[in-house]
Amino acid sequence: MRPLPTDTEAEAKSAPQGSLGTTMLRLFALLASPEMAKWRFRMGVALGLTILAKLFAVSAPVFFGDGINLISRHVGSGEGGNSRDGAAAAALSGIAGTFALAFIAYAVARFMSVGAPQLRDALFAPVSQDAQRLTAVKAFAHVQGLSIGYHQTKRTGALNRIIERGARAVDFLMRFLIFNIAPTLLELVLAAGVLSVKYGWEFAAIAIVTVAIYMALTWSVTEWRVKIRRTMNEADNEASARAVDSLINFETVKAFAAERRESEAFDGAMTRYARAAARSQSSLALLNGTQALIMNGGLLAMALTAGWKAWNGVLQPGDVAAVTMILMNIYQPLNILGWAYREIKQGAVDMERVYETLALKPEVADAPDAQPLHLAGGAVRFETVSFTHDGRSRSVNGVNLDIPAGSFVGICGPSGAGKSTVLRLLFRFYDPDTGRVEIDGQDIAHLTQESLREALGLVPQDVVLFNDTLRSNIVYGRPDASEAEIRDVLERARLADFVDALPDGLETRVGERGLKLSGGEKQRVGVARAILKNPAILVLDEATSALDSQTETDVQMALAEAARGRTTVAVAHRLSTIARADRIFVLDEGRVAESGTHAELLAREGLYAAMWKRQSEAGEDGKVIAFPADTGVVH
Ligand SMILES: Nc1ncnc2c1ncn2[C@@H]1O[C@H](COP(=O)(O)OP(=O)(O)OP(=O)(O)O)[C@@H](O)[C@H]1O
Ligand SMILES: [Mg+2]
Repeated sequence: MRPLPTDTEAEAKSAPQGSLGTTMLRLFALLASPEMAKWRFRMGVALGLTILAKLFAVSAPVFFGDGINLISRHVGSGEGGNSRDGAAAAALSGIAGTFALAFIAYAVARFMSVGAPQLRDALFAPVSQDAQRLTAVKAFAHVQGLSIGYHQTKRTGALNRIIERGARAVDFLMRFLIFNIAPTLLELVLAAGVLSVKYGWEFAAIAIVTVAIYMALTWSVTEWRVKIRRTMNEADNEASARAVDSLINFETVKAFAAERRESEAFDGAMTRYARAAARSQSSLALLNGTQALIMNGGLLAMALTAGWKAWNGVLQPGDVAAVTMILMNIYQPLNILGWAYREIKQGAVDMERVYETLALKPEVADAPDAQPLHLAGGAVRFETVSFTHDGRSRSVNGVNLDIPAGSFVGICGPSGAGKSTVLRLLFRFYDPDTGRVEIDGQDIAHLTQESLREALGLVPQDVVLFNDTLRSNIVYGRPDASEAEIRDVLERARLADFVDALPDGLETRVGERGLKLSGGEKQRVGVARAILKNPAILVLDEATSALDSQTETDVQMALAEAARGRTTVAVAHRLSTIARADRIFVLDEGRVAESGTHAELLAREGLYAAMWKRQSEAGEDGKVIAFPADTGVVH
């Protein structure tokens, strides 16, 4: 039912691992994409220069051979021609002029065959860099758009490398696949033409057969080596992901004195990498040796055949030089081809990984006819909503919630009851298996995710911050907030004194994931961030659980103030923080076990009453936190 552009998915599935054809098609599609249109002219010039270079490369040896032929003709006729008259001498100096001309043509052609590609590379560099940027940004944006489910499963370090390597592969492949392999084949065709027309079909045959054997060998050995490379990359990804994961969790590692264990696990991955890398290197040496054997065998065949023909007077000495040089010229790019092909295969694999990532469908996607949310107060309704985390028992089971616009609703219940999951369903981080979630009568499955989340503000159970300044973390929901507004939320979230005491104030950096702040400070930054966003519906998941009771009371008051006039859904373990709610839902094992006001629930003497009693007895909270807007006493 969900809108999935299935063609790309099918394509990704049917694509053979790192197939060159697919890779070529993808590169051309990338070059042809509208974002690259501004480079069309450069692409055309680059292509022209490439063809020109090959024409020069093939003609240079012909000029050289002709030069030698002119000399040898002169030497041959000169032996018997000492007594020639003046006219003959003039003719001879003419011939000398032509042989010089032939050598000049040779030098110019050679220079052009090297110079033109240099010019092309200079012209094309910004094009391929831009293609690289485009790929990286596309992959990054796509990954950003994938659902929470994906992000909870992915390995950040490994994903980062996939994008990085894939983008670099695009740049490399553009330069080598398009400007190396393809033109080399063109050169082979041109050379074969010149050889057969000018010197004899045998030479064309030798050139083609040698190159074919060379390529077939390189191809098959490289196919085998790619498998080794893949193992190597997987081990590399594994090692990197492990290292990153362990470094992120350094506090846990240290607290459990698990440094050695972590190092050993890292060593395991590195050992696998080292083994694969060593195999990769020795197989490379083997390949290079065999390639040299084939190449020089071809040269020998060429020289022998041409020498034989010249010996018998069919060809001239210069022709022997020319055919050998033509073959050597073809070898030159082939020499790189051996290396480039391996890299290209690798690049194709790297690129494929990026396209696999790009082919991943967000589990939660905007419907094709998705509408923006039309807010009318922010009433929330859950209608028999059920949701199961992959393969586990139901986290949310037939939940009905009715939250009128502007009301304050509390949700409580034992740990693991499904409270946070209910909130995530409201944000549409997941789609329910059955039932529907509505805001102001609109099924959120038919809304654009952007407009939906625009209307919601969340203080999550674990506030995690960007490794940036306090200021940029606070204004994340509203980057254009004024200084006065920021100051106001700092006061309200009881952060002002803390921030003022910092030497760098709001410009203080909070460390990775906000590690340089205490749990309570982080939580208050989360509160400030949510209040500043000024959402229609405020969602609090244990927003003050990490605070001492005085600060909690203060922040709760600020939240109550912020809650006024907007729908607020608050999850809390400490019941006193939600006791004054218009309605309280008690969740248990994914179901709404009880609901009602605090007084009603106490009167029921059920789950809620028992929890309240326990908390009161524990002395944790004997009283309902007093709110400025509160009218009635609640218990
Ligand atoms: N990403 C996930 N993948 C699989 N299962 C999950 C995931 N997130 C939560 N769960 C499971 O779903 C159930 C409900 O989790 P939820 O986070 O909604 O509980 P909660 O009521 O918020 O608990 P707490 O009070 O401890 O925060 C739990 O059994 C939990 O293990
Ligand atoms: Mg929770």
